[in-house]
Amino acid sequence: MTGKIYSASTTAPVNIATLKYWGKRDTKLNLPTNSSISVTLSQDDLRTLTTACAAEFFESDKLWLNGKEESVHGPRFLACFNELRALRKIREDANPELPALSKYHMHIVSENNFPTAAGLASSAAGFAAFVQAVANLYELPQSPEELSRIARQGSGSACRSLFGGYVAWEMGQEADGSDSRAVQIATQEAWPDMKAAILVISASKKETSSTVGMQTTVNTSTLFKYRTDVVVPQRFKEMSEAIVNKDFETFGKLTMIDSNQFHAVCLDSSPPVFYMNDTSRLVIGLIEKVNKIYGRVVAAYTFDAGPNSVLYYLEKDELIVLGLLKAAIPDVDGWDKKSYTSSIAPAVPDGVDP
Ligand code: ADP
Ligand code: DP6
Ligand code: CO
Repeated sequence: MTGKIYSASTTAPVNIATLKYWGKRDTKLNLPTNSSISVTLSQDDLRTLTTACAAEFFESDKLWLNGKEESVHGPRFLACFNELRALRKIREDANPELPALSKYHMHIVSENNFPTAAGLASSAAGFAAFVQAVANLYELPQSPEELSRIARQGSGSACRSLFGGYVAWEMGQEADGSDSRAVQIATQEAWPDMKAAILVISASKKETSSTVGMQTTVNTSTLFKYRTDVVVPQRFKEMSEAIVNKDFETFGKLTMIDSNQFHAVCLDSSPPVFYMNDTSRLVIGLIEKVNKIYGRVVAAYTFDAGPNSVLYYLEKDELIVLGLLKAAIPDVDGWDKKSYTSSIAPAVPDGVDP
């Protein structure tokens, strides 16, 4: 059978947390055990490109990720599909002349131009692009904040990729997740000299997905409760203030200790979850040394659930940071020798920057 195919495309950026989300209090709704903060990277280097198509003759929902078919019948995709279809249905009921896209199956084609499932936030860019592409196809009027609530159900970190600049995911209190969504703390323009260097230490797929790793931590780590109940609430305030005040020294120190504490609770899990490797630890040592020599935070490292390193620094220090990496890292085994520098995303293309 043939017929009209409706389609819409979008791109979405990666965001790299500086105060890490790690743990769910509700695995169905993807509600976190703590609030988190991230910086959205410009799409010039790293991005997901997604096209959503709907047609009456499609026989089932399908997804091709990086050229390979993957299932969309898991609970994460279903949650997003169901919410988006329900919103489209409301529009169709109010405007009977609209095509009945809410009843059609969808084909989704998505491509990441950076390593997938390697700790560079592919699930964040991936689900943000998926939700935004379908919202575009359905011509939904929902705000980025409302779409962030839907993207959150695909992958928690995805809710933050609907915004540019400096973003918080407020954990919320409500059992239905209605107040668990991303908000912008500061625009890119408010602190424009921030930059990021992304070091692809290994492009391989991680052994333990973020979803599985964090539930192992929630279920077994005794240090974890101290992190969520005592450390993060205070750190969230301090980091938000540091961003608003453009206080790189405080921002950088908090970013590094938070990355280290996140990897500490991973190690405190049973079985232990290891994401960093020897090269990751070499980068930590190098940055700690340089910061000590200069007597200030020149660069701040952070590692998501994978061995790859992201360094935040101010533009004025770019030559120091990049020179150092070139000089110190090339000979290390297991180094994929790919690095990017990125500025911060001013806004997400289809989203409206508040
Ligand atoms: P990462 O550190 O890259 O975010 P995760 O373990 O959190 O790794 O998630 C990786 C998973 O996210 C992939 O196995 C895939 O299921 C999903 N994912 C990644 N990219 C996309 C995409 N572009 N579209 C849809 N899903 C994606
Ligand atoms: C270490 O958002 O990938 O990157 O919600 O299960 O999809 P799911 O997990 P995900 O976890 C991200 C963990 C992190 C920290 C962060 O991005 O805040
Ligand atoms: Co992820």
